[in-house]
Amino acid sequence: MAQPVLQGRSILLAIGGGIAAYKSAELVRLIRKAGGDVRVILTRAGSQFVTPLTLAGLTGNKVQEDLFSLTDEVEMGHIELSRAADLVVVAPATADLMAKAANGLANDLASTALLATDKRILMAPAMNVRMWLHPATQRNLETLKRDGVRFVGPDAGEMACGEFGPGRMAEPATILEAIVEALAGPTVIPMPDWQAPAAAAITGPLSGRHVLITAGPTHEPIDPVRYIANRSSGKQGYALADAARALGARVTLVSGPVALPDPPGIAVIRVETARQMDEAVEQALPADLAIFAAAVADWRVEDEAGQKLKKDGNAIPPLRLTENPDILARIARHPTRRPPLVVGFAAETETVIAHATAKRLRKGCDIIVANDVSPASGVMGGDRNIVHVIDAAGVATLPDMAKAEVAAALMQRFAGRLRSGA
Ligand code: C5P
Repeated sequence: MAQPVLQGRSILLAIGGGIAAYKSAELVRLIRKAGGDVRVILTRAGSQFVTPLTLAGLTGNKVQEDLFSLTDEVEMGHIELSRAADLVVVAPATADLMAKAANGLANDLASTALLATDKRILMAPAMNVRMWLHPATQRNLETLKRDGVRFVGPDAGEMACGEFGPGRMAEPATILEAIVEALAGPTVIPMPDWQAPAAAAITGPLSGRHVLITAGPTHEPIDPVRYIANRSSGKQGYALADAARALGARVTLVSGPVALPDPPGIAVIRVETARQMDEAVEQALPADLAIFAAAVADWRVEDEAGQKLKKDGNAIPPLRLTENPDILARIARHPTRRPPLVVGFAAETETVIAHATAKRLRKGCDIIVANDVSPASGVMGGDRNIVHVIDAAGVATLPDMAKAEVAAALMQRFAGRLRSGA
C-alpha cells in the first residue's frame, strides 16, 4: 500500500496535447492512490490523446475544458478553479503551453489558470528533442524558472517520433515525487511586487554567443541498481556555466548526476551515461565555445544486466568493460560543426603539465585546463582549484582560487580568444 502522502492535498492538473498525455492518466491514478484529489483541465489538443471520460472516471471529478462554459462558471469560476488547488501541475507541458505561460497568454482555460493562479506551478515538459532544444523553448524555460515555476524532466531517451535526446516526459512516479517535494514548502505564492523592476538580460563580452559545457561524472550501469562512477562533484563545470552567463552568453550545461541545483538562467540537460552525454552534446550544437569539464567514465560495462545480478553461491560475476565515446576528441574533430573554440580539462595525479600538454594534441582541442586531482590536492569535491591553462603558445598557471573565481578568470580568457578570433 502506498503512503497517503497527499492526503488532504488537491492538485489541479493541466494536460497538454502530446503523446505523453497517456502517461497523465497513470499520474492521476498515482496521485489518487497517494490520497490526493485531482481536478483536470484538458486542452483541446490534449483531448486528442486522452478522453475527458477516462479522466473523469479516474479523478471522480468533472473535467474542465472550456474557458467560456456558463455552467462551469456558475459551478466554479476559472479564477477560483486555479486557486482552489494546493499545486498546479502541467503534464505534459508542451512547447505551446510553456510559450503561453512564459509570455502571459491566456486564450484558453489552461493558460488562463496558469496566469490567474496564486499557487506553485510544476511543469513536466514533453516534446520533440529539436523543439525542446530550440532557443525559443529554452528562453521560455529560463523565463518560467525565473518566475518560480518548477520543472521535472524531461528525460533523455528514444522518443515516439523515432529521434533520441531530451524531450521525453518524466515518468509518472518521478512526477509524483516532484509533486510531494513541491508541496513540502509554502504553496501560496506572494503577490509579485508590482513596483520591482523586471529582470534584465545580461549583456557582456559573450552576448549573442552559445557556450556548451559538460560537467559532473557519468554513471555507467552494471545492472538496474548498480553503477560505476567517480568522485567528480560538478562544481567547476557549474561555476563555468555561471561565469559564462555572467558574461552574457546563452549557456547549455550537459550535466552528469550531481547534487547541485540547476543554475538560474541556464539550459540544463541532465544525463547519466557517457553515451547520453555524447548524444546531448551533439544535439546542443552548434556552439561558439565548448568546454568539456565532465569527468566522463572511460569505460562502461559491455553487457549491462537487465535484472539485478544475484549472488549465486561463490561465483563472482565478471565485469567486461568496453570503451566509451571520447566526447571531447569527437567534437574537436567534428567534420562540420566543430565549435570555433574547444576547451578540454585534464585531471591528473602526476606530471600534470607534461601529461596535459600531450593530451591537448591527442584530443585535438585548442586549450587544455589542467589540474592536480591527487588526493592531497583536495580538488575533487573541494571548493578551490589551481589550474594551468595550456594552449599552442605555452602554459599559464593561475593562482590558488575558489572554483567560482577560477571559472570567472578562465571565461574572461576564453571570451578574449573568441573576440580576437585566435
Ligand atoms: O579522461 P581524460 O583525461 O581523457 O579527459 C580529458 C578531457 O576529455 C576532459 O575535458 C573530459 O571532459 C574529456 N572527455 C570526454 N569524453 C571522454 C573522456 C574524456 O569528453 N570519454
